[in-house]
Amino acid sequence: MSITYIKSLANHQDQSVTLKGWIYNIRSSKAIHFLEVRDGTGLCQCIVAADDVSEEVFEAAGHLKQESSLEITGKVIKDDRSIGGYELHATDVKVIQIAENYPITPKEHGVEFLMENRHLWLRSQRQWAAMRVRNEIIFAIHTFFQGRGFVQMDSPIFTGNAAEGSTTLFETDYFDEKAYLAQTGQLYGEALAMAHGLIYTFGPTFRAEKSKTRRHLTEFWMMEPEMAFYDLEMNMDLAEDMIKAVVSTVLEKRQEELKILERDTSVLEKTASDAFKRMTYTEAVDKLKSDQTAALLDEMAESRETEKDEITKEREEIKKEHGSAKKWRKAQIDQRIKDIGARLDQIEEDLRNIPGWKESARNFEWGNDFGGSDETVLMMQYDVPVIVTHWPAEIKAFYMKRDETDKLALGMDILAPEGYGEIVGGSQREDSLEVLEERIAEEDLDKSVFEWYLDLRRFGSVPHSGYGLGLERTVAWICGLQHVRETIPFPRMLGRLRP
Ligand code: 4AD
Ligand code: MG
Repeated sequence: MSITYIKSLANHQDQSVTLKGWIYNIRSSKAIHFLEVRDGTGLCQCIVAADDVSEEVFEAAGHLKQESSLEITGKVIKDDRSIGGYELHATDVKVIQIAENYPITPKEHGVEFLMENRHLWLRSQRQWAAMRVRNEIIFAIHTFFQGRGFVQMDSPIFTGNAAEGSTTLFETDYFDEKAYLAQTGQLYGEALAMAHGLIYTFGPTFRAEKSKTRRHLTEFWMMEPEMAFYDLEMNMDLAEDMIKAVVSTVLEKRQEELKILERDTSVLEKTASDAFKRMTYTEAVDKLKSDQTAALLDEMAESRETEKDEITKEREEIKKEHGSAKKWRKAQIDQRIKDIGARLDQIEEDLRNIPGWKESARNFEWGNDFGGSDETVLMMQYDVPVIVTHWPAEIKAFYMKRDETDKLALGMDILAPEGYGEIVGGSQREDSLEVLEERIAEEDLDKSVFEWYLDLRRFGSVPHSGYGLGLERTVAWICGLQHVRETIPFPRMLGRLRP
């Protein structure tokens, strides 16, 4: 017998089917059990009526608890008010396992608790939706590159050399030799591009990030194209096209998930259609230090204060109404009070942050790297991604080509709108053997481990470029998730190795 999935119930209207899944929620009255069943593809309301099933089946269904597993057979009935648009009117229920008391209930849990139970939390609607979007993003990236003739190739995870600075290296013992977990596949990607022209790697990368921020993982997935004969301009065009393609695909195919995530998609729609903003690092610094930015932050603080007053007042009003309200209205009020509470927390956090942001933006010194808050403040002014180019060479990696002044690196970072920060880092690569040798000496790197890399400049060196897209930051932005910990099934970060 084949399994019918909730996703495809539309193909079975008025037919009898068997679903296999888990109880997401259960409500019972005397003569009816309402089982909300999930099967991995979606949710379906199943109605078990005492009149439609045997006494034993009705009794057994009444003992089901959250996350119990079951098989349920019944007729598929179209009902627009139901989740997914279809209901199942059950004729039989087979219990597979009665679950123990499930730790994650519809009431609110703290994040630490949910992270401890990540293996179970993944079953919840929002987490489910985020993983579906993640999958769609991955597939869209492959579709984009394969469609343009890129070859996917894999770079090693054990490496003998650092590429993105020594401070974030994970060191391991490789049969009495030092090995590092790859921070990037780039250097290998360059070798592969010289063999195949257009390639991309897509794999796990590792950074011993000691910082506990909402943007940092110690293990994350990076997608890195590398293109022979591409300059910085072509590199930017490619990255912009790719992000547009990814965002368009998610908008087109994952509306249901974006709704579950309560994502306001207006900025995503603009990203899919409008040209990205491009500016140099120096222009970005000027913008950051400008009176305009300071004024914008003042405005932001003011509007947060106003909103705070408004929703606090609203909360008082509906609290008064609560006592005499009908049951459905009470539920509505409870929900609204919860939402207002969450929003107030956010507002308080913004109000605490704004003075520091303003200070940091105003006093920003040319030559420094942007901090998380600088990126946020800069991006408040744009509703499409911004590509920042021509960075002070000192703060960028040794392999980046420099402009004619020798002071600026031909790097490009792409900052996501809505405060999500850098999602892409890339550059045109230095293609001169002599210059690269100089850099390696200047930075005191062990030349012997880079000899193979230097060979790429000895044997048919060509201008080339590439970039790395951080998958989890991209998922966080597209899903509108506050923290990267919800963008990967089992996040690894400072203080988090289990489950
Ligand atoms: O800017 P990064 O360090 O660039 C590189 O590694 C280049 N070698 C890529 C290349 O040119 N092929 O990292 C690229 C992206 C960042 O923009 C960010 O999205 C993500 O990887 N990233 C992280 N994501 C989560 N946690 C971390 N600790 C991250 N560090 C970088
Ligand atoms: Mg970077």
